[in-house]
Amino acid sequence: MIDKIKALARTVAADAVANRRHLHANPELSFLEFNTAKFVAKQLTDIGLTPQEGVANTGVVALIEGRNPQSRVVALRADMDALPIREANDVPYKSRVEGVMHACGHDAHTASLIGTAHILYQLRHDFEGSVKLVFQPGEEKIPGGASLMIKEGVLQNPVPVAMLGQHVATNIPVSKIGFREGMYMASTDELYLVVKGKGGHGAMPDTLIDPILIASHIIVGLQQVISRNRKPANPSVLSFGKVIANGVTNVVPNEVYIEGTFRCMDEEWREEGWRRITKMAQGIAEAMGGSCEVEIRKGYPFLKNHPELTRRSRAAATAYVGAQNVVDLDLWLAGEDFAFYSQIVDSCFYRLGTRNEARGITSGVHTPTFDIDEAALETGPGLMAWLALEELRHK
Ligand code: NI
Repeated sequence: MIDKIKALARTVAADAVANRRHLHANPELSFLEFNTAKFVAKQLTDIGLTPQEGVANTGVVALIEGRNPQSRVVALRADMDALPIREANDVPYKSRVEGVMHACGHDAHTASLIGTAHILYQLRHDFEGSVKLVFQPGEEKIPGGASLMIKEGVLQNPVPVAMLGQHVATNIPVSKIGFREGMYMASTDELYLVVKGKGGHGAMPDTLIDPILIASHIIVGLQQVISRNRKPANPSVLSFGKVIANGVTNVVPNEVYIEGTFRCMDEEWREEGWRRITKMAQGIAEAMGGSCEVEIRKGYPFLKNHPELTRRSRAAATAYVGAQNVVDLDLWLAGEDFAFYSQIVDSCFYRLGTRNEARGITSGVHTPTFDIDEAALETGPGLMAWLALEELRHK
């Protein structure tokens, strides 16, 4: 079967590259993937499938039925949205939409899954069970397209026993594959703080309640939550990316506005973290005569890779690409909305290497110079088809 899939992967690779380039040139922001969804549905229809459109508005779902289609179902997921970034690459497939760019490889994920669909459709008489294809919107934006797709029943009718997701990796050489069992990516919550005091002339500090000094103490003090309150074995970060204190040299403002992110890999600690952050920020502000409003916007949960499923997928990938092309992934405190699926169904989120140093393809995700080595678009579709079939065979 591997050789059959590899041969089919060679035949779909050129289409996968063309599809990826089309999507790359025509990116759409989170939850606005209308043309992308139409494009995906058209491709799936051309293959011979009957896609369901409009799931969570711009999501597309399709089922490839093998023999005895109800016996076992495996789901495969690709995300479709782009980012508000202005592309700096000078390539023929450069984004034609000003200020919008596929800078996280979701174009490649979508093109790869279309390729996988092509391969699996041609093999439908050779396997038992069904493969559910999930093309989801809005990975980059809270509340996450995955959570909306789940609400609209993507994990029902039929219920998948396992779910696989693939993401490009700019730090892994092209076509090498990365796996990690268990905890892999972090929960992500957004913090919005408003520190309130009493502004005035900088020469008369005794008449002020200086919100800038209070905010400074809060920013320093909150690191206690990470360095003292958190169990050292429990990965967690607290970072601030925006502080606005809009006074001038001699005018202290009334308020300071702070934004940050809190990430971890433990739901209990996550809630305790929220409580401690809130209490400490308010306590410091009050002790200094001011006040602090704390708003925490709950983001994605942490992503856990089901250990046995991940071990099986890793073994299957080793058979497909060779042991020298399978690597271990480190914990990564970025967020990923595939985490929502991983909380409900046995899931494995793995990485597809897209780096090529010799060709200068080294920029990270979410940068204006991000690109991929498209050789990965032969490995990606074939490997995912193979992993799905191996998982269907598993009893
Ligand atoms: Ni991404």
